Amino acid sequence: MGEKTVGRLRNDGEARVGTGVPGLDEMLEGGFPAGSLVTLAGRPGTGKTIFASQFLYQGARDVEEPGMYVSMLEGRKAYLRNLARLGFDILPLEKKGLFRFLEMPTLTAEGLPAIWEEIVRNIEEADIVRLVIDSFTAMSQAFGSQGDIRVFTHMLLGKIIGGAGCTTLMITETPPGFLGEDSPNPGMQEFIADGVMHFHLVPVAGDARVRYIEITKMRGTNHQMGPIPIDIGSRGISVRSPHFPGRR
Ligand SMILES: Nc1ncnc2c1ncn2[C@@H]1O[C@H](COP(=O)(O)OP(=O)(O)OP(=O)(O)O)[C@@H](O)[C@H]1O
Ligand SMILES: [Mg+2]
Repeated sequence: MGEKTVGRLRNDGEARVGTGVPGLDEMLEGGFPAGSLVTLAGRPGTGKTIFASQFLYQGARDVEEPGMYVSMLEGRKAYLRNLARLGFDILPLEKKGLFRFLEMPTLTAEGLPAIWEEIVRNIEEADIVRLVIDSFTAMSQAFGSQGDIRVFTHMLLGKIIGGAGCTTLMITETPPGFLGEDSPNPGMQEFIADGVMHFHLVPVAGDARVRYIEITKMRGTNHQMGPIPIDIGSRGISVRSPHFPGRR
């Protein structure tokens, strides 16, 4: 694999990769540390897919960093249609080799090595710099025991993804019905990951809901603590002024 270009450089020379979300980079010393592995955790519908896609889209469009979305959950057609509704015009970027969608629908423990070979082959072929895996939860369901998941997680997150050098967002689904803040029992991937972001959609007064994200871990980064209110609007995710939460 050739030399990769990474995000913009900070003054001290440590590379950062822009998140793609207006207002968020400033809360992360410029973005995600280049080459890091970040877990995006949250219940269904909290914005994980949109966030991860915006990260790839912004990288491809604005700084010409090739990105790949690996999906175990959703087909390409539905994916592109949902993103087009947010103004993410992916097809031209795909044509330029700046975006790839890899559909990996059926998963068994025996089939995983082949799937990983395929992912790595695509990373090398397209010089992928930004990677999204949707989702860790779907992959880990291929395993029968917690022990197998541990071995797999170490191998996958430590060696394979770490070795490829991509800045990687790994989506994890928090079970529905779990209304609390951080999981009382963080998964293996949260320990191994360099960063963890939680996505929330919570009821407030009346029938309103507010969305927020919380960065609970980002190695080597003086990051914002506490809830960061966000909106999902017609152009995707943006950070909302913390002083005006609530209905809009
Ligand atoms: N154009 C839009 N304007 C406003 N909100 C939108 C728009 N498109 C999607 N949304 C909101 O975003 C949500 C979907 O976000 P997303 O697909 O990123 O969730 P997710 O966390 O990936 O969910 P899952 O775990 O089910 O895959 C929708 O449920 C809707 O509330
Ligand atoms: Mg999703």
